Amino acid sequence: MQSDEIRSRFLKFFEKRGHKIISSSSLVPGDPTVLFTTAGMQQFKPYYTAPENALRDFSSKNTTSAQKCVRTVDIDEVGDSTHLTFFEMLGNFSFGGYGRHNAINYAHEFITKELGLEISYVTFYKGEGVVPRDEESKDIWAELGVRDIREDGKDVFWGPTGDSGPCGPTTEIYCKNADGQDVEIWNIVFNEYFCDGSREKLDKGEAKLKKLDVLGVDTGMGLERLAATVQKKKDVYQTDLFNNEKTREKRVVADHVKASLFMISDGVLPSNAGRGYILRRLIRRAVRFSKNPLSEEIEKIKKIYKGVYILDDKGEIKKEEDKFRETLAKGIKEFEKGIDPFILFTTCGFPIELTLELAKEKGKEINLEDFNKKMAEHQRLSQTASAGMFKGGLANHNEKTIKLHTAHHLLLAGLQAIVDKNIKQRGSNITEERLRIDFLCDHKLTDEEKKKVEDWVNDKIKSGLNVVRKEMPLAEAQKIGAEMEFGAKYPETVSVYFIEDKNSNPISKEFCGGPHVKNTSELGQFKIQKEEAVSQGTRRIKAILA
Ligand code: ALA
Repeated sequence: MQSDEIRSRFLKFFEKRGHKIISSSSLVPGDPTVLFTTAGMQQFKPYYTAPENALRDFSSKNTTSAQKCVRTVDIDEVGDSTHLTFFEMLGNFSFGGYGRHNAINYAHEFITKELGLEISYVTFYKGEGVVPRDEESKDIWAELGVRDIREDGKDVFWGPTGDSGPCGPTTEIYCKNADGQDVEIWNIVFNEYFCDGSREKLDKGEAKLKKLDVLGVDTGMGLERLAATVQKKKDVYQTDLFNNEKTREKRVVADHVKASLFMISDGVLPSNAGRGYILRRLIRRAVRFSKNPLSEEIEKIKKIYKGVYILDDKGEIKKEEDKFRETLAKGIKEFEKGIDPFILFTTCGFPIELTLELAKEKGKEINLEDFNKKMAEHQRLSQTASAGMFKGGLANHNEKTIKLHTAHHLLLAGLQAIVDKNIKQRGSNITEERLRIDFLCDHKLTDEEKKKVEDWVNDKIKSGLNVVRKEMPLAEAQKIGAEMEFGAKYPETVSVYFIEDKNSNPISKEFCGGPHVKNTSELGQFKIQKEEAVSQGTRRIKAILA
């Protein structure tokens, strides 16, 4: 059975059982606290806390998808038989539609009947703190005739993704691969709680769990691993989703180029920070392991996904590859001379991971502490620049300041649309109560102008326009005329926020580190409170959202 068939059989299986098929969302999630989409549930995260919206948006409480995912935590393990940075996750989801009984029965039926696989064993959560032992899941598996049912701890408690979110106990399904080893195939999560902090905080006992109003189901099954099991292959590289790469080097190249191609197709560009940095790392690592031009690999990957995903790297991989091949040889020479890893990073573009890998191969010691200290300072400086206009600490956002921040962008666009297209911002400040903008303008605004600006902003709020973040090279952002803070120093790759009208034309574009609301409809009523002079030719507006 080819992977295309596995994917479509999965979706149809759940469609027949009352699930709405939803397309994969972008690898760049709307949630600003998460770098990449790492699971199928990412696009559905808001529905676990507001299940009534699922009916509104999907006409169903149950959905199913094949989701593009990127996970880089396992990057060092790429090249073995199961770990990948890019993979597709098959999943079924329920927001109060059904619970453990159906979720486990569906999974059992799909694995054993639809695919004809044998379940090796399953797990269930043994309980800890406020979360009880999951006896119910254990009993359901036993009723289905599964004999090997194992209890487990933290590994079978999932989530949350990002800085807070739904989470809960899971039950996993293991099947044997062609080598006779047990491989985790499917993870079935019961989202029973909302965690008010990140997973890290939860593990440290610094976050609290609150029971959700309704039980949510979130499942995830990696298509590549499943294909290996169904196709009776020893590893994912022998499935039809790869090209039978045998050495670790070739596997790393196949995986990393695939991840890079998908990332760029979803709008990520190589840079020195955030997503762009991870992309850069993947491309550079692929270059290091590949003697052949990466374009050969790109073509092979496009062939695999033809008809499923539209992939286009717009020449970005080659650009990055050409740049890095030039410095690679030079960097290795410098490395051998024992040069400082931070200098290797800043002058030769050697990510620390690459330096560490080289050091391991050559049996050299690296002073990581010293590197981290220098990096932290470097990042502090570039973050101050990319944060752009939003002053007052990026760390202090809450719902109110985020909304005012988006209103701030709308107001600047409104001033330019109504009063004078040449108006430039000179300063800004946002508190929980109000926003403040200073801008260059040669006259005091008339009451009519103020009213018109206010109406313009409120009209954009009512229209429910999308707020979209894109990363792009500084030069490109300048070329398209994105608003920037006068005198600020920006890094080579910047983040730009667009507010787009219904035809996807930007009515506002600003250099900005965010965060913002996803849609202007979240803002409420906009009101100008005060307009006054700050100095000759500079005006100040204070405005609120009611
Ligand atoms: N969200 C769960 C996972 O990614 C299903 O494993």
